[in-house]
Amino acid sequence: MEEILINGGNRLEGKVLIKGSKNSILPILAASILATDGKSIIYDVPNLKDVDNLIEIIEYLGVKIERKDNMLTVDATQMDRYDATLDCVSELRASLFLLGPIIARFGFAEISQPGGCAIGIRPIDLHLKGLEALGVTFEKTHGVIRGRTEGLKGAKIYLDFPSVGATENLMMAASVAEGQTILENVAEEPEIVDLANYLNNMGAKITGAGTNVIKVYGVPKLKGNVHTVIPDRIEAGTYMIAVGAAGGNVLVENVIADHLKPVLAKLREAGITVIEEFDGVRVISDGSKACKGINIKTMPYPGFPTDMQAQMLGMLLCSEGRSYVTETIFERRFQHIEEFRKMGADIIMVGNTVDLTGTDRIYGATVFATDLRAGAALIIAGLYAEGETRVGNVHFIDRGYDGLVENLKSLGADIKRVQK
Ligand code: UD1
Repeated sequence: MEEILINGGNRLEGKVLIKGSKNSILPILAASILATDGKSIIYDVPNLKDVDNLIEIIEYLGVKIERKDNMLTVDATQMDRYDATLDCVSELRASLFLLGPIIARFGFAEISQPGGCAIGIRPIDLHLKGLEALGVTFEKTHGVIRGRTEGLKGAKIYLDFPSVGATENLMMAASVAEGQTILENVAEEPEIVDLANYLNNMGAKITGAGTNVIKVYGVPKLKGNVHTVIPDRIEAGTYMIAVGAAGGNVLVENVIADHLKPVLAKLREAGITVIEEFDGVRVISDGSKACKGINIKTMPYPGFPTDMQAQMLGMLLCSEGRSYVTETIFERRFQHIEEFRKMGADIIMVGNTVDLTGTDRIYGATVFATDLRAGAALIIAGLYAEGETRVGNVHFIDRGYDGLVENLKSLGADIKRVQK
């Protein structure tokens, strides 16, 4: 068992280069199985556990994947299985992205039902309802979902909530359905736009991605293409917040600043200097104690991302005054506050809002990542806590950060991975 050890107190200085987006590459990988003709080449693929797991599942389906550094070559022309029921499928939420594409290819799919997870119950009703509207019938038995269609047909579908995953699943399936699909009240995340660009380069006809209405004109087949994944806005935001917390001066490179508007706005409101430069975004800070308390409410894009809520809290523990942070997307996404308390944070929860009063100092402690972003948040707190912080459950962090410890170390943090 590994853990991450941090000795707090070092400022962060230098540059950090952001990798390709986790939340883009996962649906893009799933979409790549729709190519019945030619190979896809995908650049800037991050080295993450979630990506490894999805590749393992896709290879099991008979798709050939070659991986060289950050480049993937995907050849789905010989794909011959429709049953994604390996053990790891139910643990990887992203395996749900395969449901639409497998049905689109074979008219039939079997997939292990993804479970709930640390941050919430995570139902899949919007995925299933949308696919039903496209002509799929489902049956669920013993944790396996079976979907069947005589042929996907375009439809008008209104999502009750702008779910990122459901928008992506439906966009993929509708790409090869007969006729036109109109998806309303959809998610507007940059990763949706990236997936739409990828599908369009495969020959799909999608317009409106990035707005709340997407139109898809079905085409008979899709082909392989070349694509570079967009930079990971959550990884970028995590480093920016780390500098805000620990203090320092860091240029975060390979960032699309527009994708981070709410995060940049909140960093500035907290009193941190954020400069959009030609090569990236520079963050200059005197650390958590120099920050002002702020209020945050997580919202679908372009609102403040739920995936940055924990890290922001991690930065604010010693800020001046009070912060109120409200989580509206996932009902269990506050388990990290118990861990922050172990470090001396003055923090309480009222309903889905955290009430945080900045303290004079926080102290190193043995804490546990309760999910991926909570893990990053504990590291952020550890960067300026007095003494040593040990972060356990490192596997959560490996799901979504490529080289977090190495990067923070190269910026000057006293941080390392150790065997327990
Ligand atoms: C994606 C991101 C995740 C991010 C989340 C919200 C990926 C791989 N993951 O997850 O990092 O935190 O968006 O920005 O892109 N819901 C339903 N029924 C459904 C689907 C969702 O009720 O069928 C609810 C969820 O429980 C949640 C909300 O909708 O409360 C948002 O979930 P969704 O946008 O679907 O998140 P994911 O796509 O799973």
